[in-house]
Amino acid sequence: MSVYTDLTGKKSKLAVVGLGYVGLPLALEFARKIPVIGFDVNPKKVELMRNGIDPSKEVEPEKFKGVDIVFTSDLDLLKEASFFIVAVPTPVDKYNVPDLKPLLAASATIGAVLKKGDYVVYESTTYPGCTEEDCLPVLEQQSGLKMGVDFSLGYSPERINPGDKKNTLRSVVKVVSGNNAAALDEVAKVYELVVDAGVHRASSIKVAEASKIVENTQRDMNIALMNELSLIFDRIGINTYEVLEAAGTKWNFLKFYPGLVGGHCIGVDPYYLTHKAASLGYQSRVIAASRYINDDMAKHLARKIIKYVLRQSDNPRVLVMGVTFKENVSDIRNSKITDTVAELRAFNIDVDIVDPYAVSEEVSHEYELALSEAPTGLYDAVVVTVPHAPYTNLDDNYFAAITKQHGVIVDLKGIYRSKIHSRPYWSL
Ligand SMILES: NC(=O)c1ccc[n+]([C@@H]2O[C@H](COP(=O)([O-])OP(=O)(O)OC[C@H]3O[C@@H](n4cnc5c(N)ncnc54)[C@H](O)[C@@H]3O)[C@@H](O)[C@H]2O)c1
Repeated sequence: MSVYTDLTGKKSKLAVVGLGYVGLPLALEFARKIPVIGFDVNPKKVELMRNGIDPSKEVEPEKFKGVDIVFTSDLDLLKEASFFIVAVPTPVDKYNVPDLKPLLAASATIGAVLKKGDYVVYESTTYPGCTEEDCLPVLEQQSGLKMGVDFSLGYSPERINPGDKKNTLRSVVKVVSGNNAAALDEVAKVYELVVDAGVHRASSIKVAEASKIVENTQRDMNIALMNELSLIFDRIGINTYEVLEAAGTKWNFLKFYPGLVGGHCIGVDPYYLTHKAASLGYQSRVIAASRYINDDMAKHLARKIIKYVLRQSDNPRVLVMGVTFKENVSDIRNSKITDTVAELRAFNIDVDIVDPYAVSEEVSHEYELALSEAPTGLYDAVVVTVPHAPYTNLDDNYFAAITKQHGVIVDLKGIYRSKIHSRPYWSL
């Protein structure tokens, strides 16, 4: 008998620990095939999910129907599981040092219910070595069991992209790994239940961990290059998007664009890698420089706006359209535009913020910022941060109606390039 046959024969259950952007869709996909326990420490979230509501608003209510799942915060229920998947947050602290508290707490939780023959697979993004060197000791100590003898370990990075309906859990190849060949095979079979695109068997847990962190580090560095180009082209007086459009006609030119790098992945994960490198005596240069450039863009933007509006007006007013870290999602984690807002306010500039997706209470709780219902009066600058769907069709008339004659349209993502004629216009 194997854990796979136990699960598919409905003799045991799969538990997902941490039901956020990653854990909930994963738990619901598995629950179409096998019995699932959805475990989260936040009882308010658990209550919403019991009522078919995704607190992150990513999963449609229909996905909660016809599935075999129990949502709980009760440790006792976890005892029924034999295959545990961990999808808790892996943030950094205020010094950009990895904060493993949720990961270690989840490991202790699982360690307390772990039995012989069980599997624990981590999905949280982390540095190579974390699963075996940081999490495993907690599992072994709490359970009194030995990995490789009593239970098996795995790592399978998540590639979910909130807001993206095309590249989903089912349609994207999933990297899987295990502590030995038999464990890898079992982990692969379990994931194949829900990933139509199939799995990629990584040669080790560390390789699988590294593969994920490299995906996001590569994106961070490519965006940093575009941001640096934008700083240079701004001084030269040419539009970066026009340059990229021209350069993009070459067959091997990679399509990346400048922008604020926020969220919980691209702006965070490279710090996990540089932290690990530093612990091994290597100080990263290229990765750290990219982080620095991307993190400084919010202040660069603020400086540009401040210089402009203070020359135009005694009591300047700025409108920020979009506070989420990317388009068409409600996720405001590490929203870099809030750094720009803080800098503008430090110069006594009045700032209004609107966003059709962000939740007012969350913005107020996280950043102590109030969301306005709609623009009011005339502004000296309007900053459009992300191409939210309701923003993409706005035109020159719309912006003319909400700005003073000198009001500048700051279009970070170049959505309105060559469409704004009656007002000054910038993009990154
Ligand atoms: N969101 C993404 O797009 C994405 C993509 C790929 C990888 N990841 C990675 O996946 C992991 C999870 O990210 P997320 O965006 O789903 O996070 P999230 O904040 O949306 O959800 C995490 C959930 O874990 C719960 N939790 C925290 N500590 C817990 C504990 N000890 N026991 C049980 N539950 C606990 C929280 O209450 C929350 O509901 C992170 O490592 C992240 O970097 C995220």
